[in-house]
Amino acid sequence: MSFKEGFLWGGATAANQCEGAFDADGKGPSVADAMPGGRQRFVILNSEEFDWTLDKDKYRYPNHLGIDHYHRYKEDIALFAEMGFKAYRFSIAWSRIFPLGDEESPNEKGLAFYDALIDECLKYGIEPVVTMSHYEMPLHLAKVYGGWKNRQIVAFFERYAKAVLERFASKVKYWMTFNEINSGLESPVLSQGLIPLTGADDFTNRFQAWHHQFVASALAVKIGHELREDIQIGCMQIYAPFYPLDAHPENQLSSQFKERAFDYFTSDVQVRGAYPTYTKRLLQEYGAKAPVMEAGDLELIKQYTVDYIGFSYYMSMATDVVGGAGETDFASGNLMNGVRNPFLKASEWGWQIDPIGLRISLNDLWDRYQVPLFIVENGLGANDVKEADGTVNDDYRIDYLKEHIREMHEAVLDGVDLIGYTPWGCIDLVSASTGEMSKRYGFIYVDLDDEGNGTLDRSKKKSFDWYKAVIATNGENI
Ligand code: BG6
Repeated sequence: MSFKEGFLWGGATAANQCEGAFDADGKGPSVADAMPGGRQRFVILNSEEFDWTLDKDKYRYPNHLGIDHYHRYKEDIALFAEMGFKAYRFSIAWSRIFPLGDEESPNEKGLAFYDALIDECLKYGIEPVVTMSHYEMPLHLAKVYGGWKNRQIVAFFERYAKAVLERFASKVKYWMTFNEINSGLESPVLSQGLIPLTGADDFTNRFQAWHHQFVASALAVKIGHELREDIQIGCMQIYAPFYPLDAHPENQLSSQFKERAFDYFTSDVQVRGAYPTYTKRLLQEYGAKAPVMEAGDLELIKQYTVDYIGFSYYMSMATDVVGGAGETDFASGNLMNGVRNPFLKASEWGWQIDPIGLRISLNDLWDRYQVPLFIVENGLGANDVKEADGTVNDDYRIDYLKEHIREMHEAVLDGVDLIGYTPWGCIDLVSASTGEMSKRYGFIYVDLDDEGNGTLDRSKKKSFDWYKAVIATNGENI
């Protein structure tokens, strides 16, 4: 094996899915706090009636408790350190720092919490990797301003980015601006704060929201680089290969179209610093008008491109416009649409498992952009069973990760510059798509069920020691 010296092995979480303490120490509600739990979560979010009202008589809100990482982060980070983590990717909850989002000055108690969390990582030599916005914009900005389609959000985000960068840039080298920014194409609620009531169904709003995020990301890069010369600020996106279902040229074309629309459009802008030449055609295909821009936007986007690409990889999809797949072969996936690939198995939640797809993704991203790549999410959501003796024998998770690490290594041998790997949900946490606890990803089991019952005790799964050995041998021992 030959992962580079200092390779960032670690794990990833997001504030809204693990911290809990949703109203502690001055925190305001975020969009995630208004998302009901359960597999109907997205059906509810995408319904015409949904208006961000918190109705505790009607719904349970699992993100309010998360796994109580807010109070237990020391115990959790100690376990990460025991596994030998070199990096811990977490997000800052925007609404802890600016509870409503449009205030003039930040909430000191929120900043103090992340100061302590970052110091706890540094104590063990763990590199903090911080996402500025992971599916959790302040609810007030979504409700009153209509989410990212509103230009005013750019200035609010700039103020927020300035507050956290000024406070933490000396201690934190690796940052990302928006988690899975490209998910806005198929599911704008999480990353753009857009619901049907505020125009989610109109693609003009989605592209407008993206434009504002591109400008906001450029402003964050500008602030960061002025504060610290060697800072690394990345974009963050979902990446999934979309294979043509067969060799029919129409399907080849549909795969190319889908990859441009979903996998490349946002990174083309954030990495290359310009809207790609296929933009006009893309807008037409989605029936969207060109985004409204202000003077200077394109120059900012051009000048302040990101330093690396962070991406999540869980699965691949197939595309079929010719009709071979049939309607029933629609495949469920991570905020994306496509058809089932007959050559792949899927997780219990229907996500198609494709380790080779990770090698393909790494090579395609590297060929296109030639900037360092960081896999900041990967993993298997599974219904783990705790045995009577307290063990969790998650061999299926070990197999999944092993296969992906093997392909990652092949990609490194192919010549890709890969800087790190932080599997998702290194400790069990609330699922983003379903709000369930039973969709577990962790090396660490958390005693909490879908109804919010449990002791919240942490225990090691079988994969804990396995991953520890992987890190200790820099990937030799998988
Ligand atoms: C990514 C998100 O889409 O996938 C995470 O960045 C999310 O927030 C993860 O939790 C896994 O998805 P899910 O729906 O299984 O939690």
